[in-house]
Amino acid sequence: MKPVFLIISLIFSTSVIAEEKTSVTHGEQLHNDKCLACHTTQVYSRDDRRVKTLQALSNQVNNCMKGPAKAEWTEIETNSVINYLNQKFYKF
Ligand code: HEC
Repeated sequence: MKPVFLIISLIFSTSVIAEEKTSVTHGEQLHNDKCLACHTTQVYSRDDRRVKTLQALSNQVNNCMKGPAKAEWTEIETNSVINYLNQKFYKF
């Protein structure tokens, strides 16, 4: 019984990691496709950046996405972009 359990939990944990990676990579692609028309990534890393919390980041991505960028992303895609920005720049 034990080895079987080990294998199952190994498969489960590697697939979770793979999914996270895909989501951040996908977020980066979506971001680069739609979000660099008005500002570069420098707005995320400048000293006086406005976004201070994960919730604020989520709000800002939603505002920029629905307004100016006209990106019609699903919730999963939007979360991928938030994950990408958080992992690469904000690190909340
Ligand atoms: C039509 C122009 C435009 C587009 C396209 C756009 N943004 Fe923005 N974004 C802005 C402006 C303007 C600001 C505010 C800049 C400032 O405060 O100096 C901003 C600020 C931000 C900030 C906050 C930066 C900070 O200070 O911490 C984030 C995050 C952000 N945008 C994400 C996105 C994302 C994600 C997309 C793509 C869906 C996107 N933006 C597309 C205009 C745009």
